[in-house]
Amino acid sequence: MDVIFDLKSLREKIYFWKKDGLSISFVPTMGNLHAGHLSLISGASEKADKTVVSIFVNPIQFGHGEDYEKYPSTLDHDLSKLSDESVDMVFAPNLNELYPGGIESDTRVTIPALSETLCGEFRPGHFSGVATVVMKLFNNVQPDFAFFGEKDFQQILVIRRMVEDLLLPIEVVSMPIVREIDGLAMSSRNSYLSEFERACSVEIYSVLVQAAEALKEGFKSINEIENQSVSSLVQKGFEVEYCSVRHSTDLAVPAVDNKSLVILIAAWLGDTRLIDNIRVNLA
Ligand code: PAJ
Repeated sequence: MDVIFDLKSLREKIYFWKKDGLSISFVPTMGNLHAGHLSLISGASEKADKTVVSIFVNPIQFGHGEDYEKYPSTLDHDLSKLSDESVDMVFAPNLNELYPGGIESDTRVTIPALSETLCGEFRPGHFSGVATVVMKLFNNVQPDFAFFGEKDFQQILVIRRMVEDLLLPIEVVSMPIVREIDGLAMSSRNSYLSEFERACSVEIYSVLVQAAEALKEGFKSINEIENQSVSSLVQKGFEVEYCSVRHSTDLAVPAVDNKSLVILIAAWLGDTRLIDNIRVNLA
């Protein structure tokens, strides 16, 4: 496994792989790797000849006052985890490598509409930050396949839309959410939770499961289901940003005949922001 920190070496390596006709899978991450990330890597390595993983905590996707400064940076630990996986190259650039002109007046990629709802409403600029860094990485890694987790459901739709609109020859592959045994979706941010908060955090998944059941039963309106879910979370000490039932392909508020739905939640537990979602296919 090669560990590369600069674009020049990355481009050289990619050039030779392409010249040899090898296909490339890519898994972008911000590091602090857990089993969720590793599941993407294992899917990626099955799909192509070469697997590239990037590790970069991207400042422009964090808002003012968010956790950029304290986001866990664990490169040595991550590299030792990756050395047990089928990874051919890790790209771990520093800030200057990806933002040579600085981050303030940098060119940005913006995906309208999809980026403004749900997380986008509460984290303005977040998805433009994500799309911009992913585009920079795509331009250099030149993957055939790019792997993303359904844990960040809206992020996948934003990236898919970017790939479609900017005509990138890349297949975006989505992978299921990996959960702890008690149901909490794995996330680097779970390490911020106190022992008490960790115990409460399971409520998000159980609320999602109950809401999905209620949707399938069809006795309650979407509004009732959303409101009940918010109440259950508030009772357990969460501050809820949104709990919303949406159409799974475009995150629109579902029309009566929409069968492919997703329920998405973002909520704070103390100082930790947690997101999760569940897909619901109505027969
Ligand atoms: P990060 O939070 O490190 O996540 C990297 C990838 O791992 C994302 O595609 C995310 O959806 C996936 N992932 C995280 N937790 C998961 C879980 N429990 N199960 C399955 N997949 C999971 O997402 C980002 O980084 C950044 O926004 C990035 C795309 C790298 C751009 O900076």
